[in-house]
Amino acid sequence: MRKPLLAGNWKMYKTPAETRRFFEEFIPLVATARECDIVIFPPFVDIAAATSITETSRVAIGGQTLDWRTEGAFTGEVSGPMLKAAGADWVLVGHSERRQFFGETDATVYQRTVAALAAGLKPIVCLGEHLAEREADRTQAVLETQFEGGIAPLSADQFARIVVAYEPMWAIGTGRTATAEIAADAHRILRAAMRQKFGNDVRILYGGSVKPDNIQGLMAQDEIDGALVGGASLSPESFAAIVNH
Ligand code: PGA
Repeated sequence: MRKPLLAGNWKMYKTPAETRRFFEEFIPLVATARECDIVIFPPFVDIAAATSITETSRVAIGGQTLDWRTEGAFTGEVSGPMLKAAGADWVLVGHSERRQFFGETDATVYQRTVAALAAGLKPIVCLGEHLAEREADRTQAVLETQFEGGIAPLSADQFARIVVAYEPMWAIGTGRTATAEIAADAHRILRAAMRQKFGNDVRILYGGSVKPDNIQGLMAQDEIDGALVGGASLSPESFAAIVNH
């Protein structure tokens, strides 16, 4: 049995004061949740507030991306060792918004994943197809290409320490969730690729318009180990309802 993981990606929302208010409400709401990992990914400027308020709780904190270099003249970037020193334990890599708006590729996803692991962070490596790719019946080919470029070059030891998130781009922020069956199909494609390359598989989350009212159906699928939640992770009540589903 793989341990469930419920993750909240706040994207570019919330100030440090709003972060503290969120956790004051959220932490008591999940105090008695079943055995699972709970991780919030706030904007960088909120990480200090988030890690200090969650320190004695069961909630962990992560960065939304990282640079693959440790330091240097790279204005605007944040490195793995910096996130770790700020108290983060996790990091998102290759989120579709990073791929779409900030030029990330499978090659840089691989570099960032290696850098995250080297810094002692647990990466959640995100992938997923566009609507046009799904409609052209190219979902399997796209997922296999993203796996080949971003994940397959890892060593077996590195691979064992990652989590993968399948996030079809047509379901992100659109209110259009993949059905549990569509998500499970995609997870099966990814698990087959993992087993073929590494002889085993790791946790795979689903992401894309996950809400309190669809989490149960998704989690009922054996293939799905958890969720990466955007919009519905911004409110303590709705993210707690997802964690406590
Ligand atoms: P959403 O975002 O839940 O708002 O669709 C998911 C994500 O981008 O990780």
